[in-house]
Amino acid sequence: MTLLVTGGAGFIGANFVLDWLATSDEPVINLDKLTYAGNPETLASLQGDVRHQLVQGDIGDTALVSRLLAEHRPRAVVNFAAESHVDRSIHGPGEFIETNIVGTFRLLESVRGYWSSLPVASVSDREQVPSRSETAPTQESFRFLHVSTDEVYGSLDKDDPAFSETHRYEPNSPYSASKAASDHLVRAWHHTYGLPVLTTNCSNNYGPYHFPEKLIPLMIVNALAGKPLPVYGDGMQVRDWLYVKDHCSAIRRVLEAGRLGEVYNVGGWNEKPNIEIVKTVCVLLDELRPRSDGKSYAEQISYVTDRQGHDRRYAIDARKLEAELGWKPAETFETGIRKTVEWYLANPEWVLHVQSGAYREWVNKNYTGRLA
Ligand code: NAD
Ligand code: DAU
Repeated sequence: MTLLVTGGAGFIGANFVLDWLATSDEPVINLDKLTYAGNPETLASLQGDVRHQLVQGDIGDTALVSRLLAEHRPRAVVNFAAESHVDRSIHGPGEFIETNIVGTFRLLESVRGYWSSLPVASVSDREQVPSRSETAPTQESFRFLHVSTDEVYGSLDKDDPAFSETHRYEPNSPYSASKAASDHLVRAWHHTYGLPVLTTNCSNNYGPYHFPEKLIPLMIVNALAGKPLPVYGDGMQVRDWLYVKDHCSAIRRVLEAGRLGEVYNVGGWNEKPNIEIVKTVCVLLDELRPRSDGKSYAEQISYVTDRQGHDRRYAIDARKLEAELGWKPAETFETGIRKTVEWYLANPEWVLHVQSGAYREWVNKNYTGRLA
């Protein structure tokens, strides 16, 4: 049995692939366009591992995706591939429309073609739990899991209840609108064609291998470099934070036992204003790598112009996933953020190669395809 993962050289996808192969011998075909956000160095520990094959390519390349599906006959596709940064979507929405909407559409069509070519299961096969089946995939056992975001639900006021799966879609940024569109396509491919899909909508992730354009890694990296820590607006926007490995365990659980066509919200019940996150990072750095002048890293905090259309608050109600599938995060915010800061302190080369662009050189040397 094989898994096709898309976007598996990005932050969450790579964590998922690394975790998957740490606990399973089921091979992973990793299709990633290797945009600026795709970093094969994150997967360096898998070099030479026959269970992992990284293929540079676009989810919208129908010929390539159809060939990969026909050759490897995966029992599931897990779709992480996306343009993911809200600020970039504000300054240049085109790529977000291309990958998140058109790309998802093309991927769904390739997968639908493959899925309809699969055999229909015998009655006895139908009684097996799909992910534990040792037999070749069937139309019944196949799964398409779409990884999405809480941002599709829009912004909450201070006292609003957290987003449940039935909250209406009110996306506000080009990024969240493109993800919302992709969720609708996935839903429609299930409703219309019967494609066996699952969708997860998760809150803000943090942890190892997070690209240092996002809040938490940017604050760590800037603090250590003696640069300002830019806090947008008043810093009182609230996000709900989940350690990336807990997101990965939730995806595994949904893949294993989620009900077809269902949506599962994933979150850690960790609502925090941005300024609190930044101050927590500063406190941890003060403890683990004190500034040479004895001052706190908090001195580097700098309030800057707010993000356009900045959503005020996100909060995830994860009770469906917890009650139905028995999922629980392993980390609290306190344990997860400490691990994260420690990881960045222990892995300066990874950050250095991202900042210097050396990770792109590695891609250029090893791949001949078009680079974004
Ligand atoms: P990321 O930007 O770190 O990684 C995205 C990966 O997708 C990169 O490796 C990139 O090269 C690849 N990619 C981009 N366009 C592609 C294309 N057309 N074809 C193939 N590969 C392509 O993103 P991330 O933070 O790891 O997010 C992964 C997924 O999870 C996204 O779908 C995102 O919307 C969703 N999500 C992210 C968060 C979060 O906090 N980061 C939270 C909830 C949901
Ligand atoms: O909620 C899930 C989403 O979380 C994912 O779908 C996105 O892919 C992911 O990027 C993330 O989106 P955010 O916009 O919430 O993440 P970001 O790290 O960019 O910003 C977090 C908050 O911090 C947000 O309120 C903006 C603020 N911020 C961000 C940066 C980069 C700052 O104040 N300063 C900064 O420099």
